[in-house]
Amino acid sequence: MRICISGTPGTGKTFISKKLGQNVINLNEFSKLNGCTKGYDKKRKSRIVDIECLKNKLNMGDVIIEGHYSHLIPCDLVIVLRTSPKVLRQRLKERNYDDKKIFENMEAEALGLITQEALEYNKNVYEIDTTNSSIDEIVKKIKDIIDGRGNDYLAGKIDYMEEILEWY
Ligand SMILES: Nc1ncnc2c1ncn2[C@@H]1O[C@H](COP(=O)(O)OP(=O)(O)OP(=O)(O)O)[C@@H](O)[C@H]1O
Ligand SMILES: [Mg+2]
Repeated sequence: MRICISGTPGTGKTFISKKLGQNVINLNEFSKLNGCTKGYDKKRKSRIVDIECLKNKLNMGDVIIEGHYSHLIPCDLVIVLRTSPKVLRQRLKERNYDDKKIFENMEAEALGLITQEALEYNKNVYEIDTTNSSIDEIVKKIKDIIDGRGNDYLAGKIDYMEEILEWY
């Protein structure tokens, strides 16, 4: 089974994946190693990823893949990590992201853009709110979803839209 862990930057994909106790492919590293990039986006200060290239090169069956575009490749299961934009802002500040990039990511998270995209590209999409959960709790939820006990986490239940109202 191919399990994809996605989410807005800073929601904890890499951090949580390291605690899962099994091999996880980091899609950023995989793209670089396999030449699946198409140049550099100066505005976003990030490499542009070639999704078609990734689809061709990712040929292993049972695997967990994490990265903020992992939901764009065919996955048996997508788990989107969600985080309150307020908390996300703090995490991205600690990474020294500039204000514009922080706001873009907060907005994307408030609107649930990754989840929307995941539902366009894949069937089994789940979401976990990591805002007030311990690492152990999040890991347990991921394992429950993988084991077929993920009904409580089906996509569409998490909503941070109210936070946007506080921004104005
Ligand atoms: N559940 C959590 N509770 C507290 N801190 C967390 C939690 N999850 C992640 N963090 C912290 O948030 C920061 C960002 O996490 P991480 O690097 O895993 O994000 P990411 O989703 O992999 O981002 P990117 O898409 O940019 O790779 C880390 O420094 C980590 O310590
Ligand atoms: Mg990461």
